[in-house]
Amino acid sequence: MKHSIVLLPGDGIGPEIVAQARGVLEAVASRFGHDFSFSSHRIGGIAIDETGDPLPAETVDACRSASAILLGAVGGPRWDDPSAKTRPEAGLLRIRKELGLFANLRPIKLFDELADASPLRADIVQGTDILFFRELTGGVYFGESGSSGEGEDETAFQSMTYSRREIKRIVRMAATAARERSNRLTSVDKANVLEPSRLWRRVAAEVMTEEFPDVQYDVVLVDAMAMHLINRPADFDVVVTGNLFGDILTDEASMLPGSLGMLPSASLGESGPGLYEPIHGSAPDIAGKGIANPLATILAAAMMLRHSLSLHAEADAIETAVAGVLADGLRTADLARGDSEAISCEAMGAAVVKKIAG
Ligand code: NAD
Ligand code: IPM
Ligand code: MN
Repeated sequence: MKHSIVLLPGDGIGPEIVAQARGVLEAVASRFGHDFSFSSHRIGGIAIDETGDPLPAETVDACRSASAILLGAVGGPRWDDPSAKTRPEAGLLRIRKELGLFANLRPIKLFDELADASPLRADIVQGTDILFFRELTGGVYFGESGSSGEGEDETAFQSMTYSRREIKRIVRMAATAARERSNRLTSVDKANVLEPSRLWRRVAAEVMTEEFPDVQYDVVLVDAMAMHLINRPADFDVVVTGNLFGDILTDEASMLPGSLGMLPSASLGESGPGLYEPIHGSAPDIAGKGIANPLATILAAAMMLRHSLSLHAEADAIETAVAGVLADGLRTADLARGDSEAISCEAMGAAVVKKIAG
């Protein structure tokens, strides 16, 4: 069967890491006899430079008719002027919204081979296997915003809104996933202060009592969760939370496996193509140096095979290959410790391809 995959390399290290993930997908196609076609489209800063729009209409059209979408990263200092008319990040937020990708799955899984890579003690991170469900098309990211006044009275605001419908669908998806794992769900909010969090807590409890009485359920405040994550990460299974809290907690959680360069994500809606991307950004500090870790994007490609194309053995093959290269001691600079030699982004991609080819 033919699968058409849209690539959105974007900015900074985006093109470098997407090229490696594409190579890995080609290796999968050739080993398992699939027909993947690829087309690249513009998003982010490069799209602003070339078209004035961080999400040109032709990119949206291509995404809508794709089997799945693989994105690198957007943004960078070149487009950081706070008074600019638009920003690269606006393109990413719009594609998520336009495609209805309300659920962002962010697995925090430890590779045994990387037990020494975390800045935390091995006995603390051991056994960590968390699946975050970050709500992706609501909350403060999409709230009403504006500014007014002058001088010391200049004021800006952005409101946080959640509806019952938005809360229900993400909690349901997370609870369904919990049933397929250890049957435990934690909802994270700030219900002691924020009104939308109080609605979140009420609606989540209703959904869990009425539809998932068999799933062990608890709630944790987001500030405490930030602490529990680095104190007892192995105690959590599935975690569901809002857009902003999920963004922050998962970057924090990247220190459990040891690098932001290891964490993939899948953004899914009720139907239509999913969008797959690493959770990290365009890493302007290392862009163009050829030293970025491509494994988060390669693991995002594995999630794409599993969730959008139902190619489970193929997804497993990528994850096994990644574990294999780590077991061989191969490390990009972000993971290299002590005097172990770091390899390039391209060499890491090639090593994964070689494992898949067998
Ligand atoms: P970042 O995630 O780009 O980088 C944070 C740190 O992690 C940097 O030191 C970087 O070198 C390192 N890092 C990230 N990915 C890595 C990889 N694959 N290999 C090795 N090291 C890696 O965050 P930032 O610097 O705060 O943001 C830079 C730009 O990226 C901003 O414009 C931001 O808006 C954007 N951003 C985009 C996305 C996205 O496209 N999904 C996500 C986050 C940030
Ligand atoms: C992410 C990023 C984005 C977000 C930005 C770039 C819009 O940080 O994908 O985690 O905040 O969602
Ligand atoms: Mn983020």
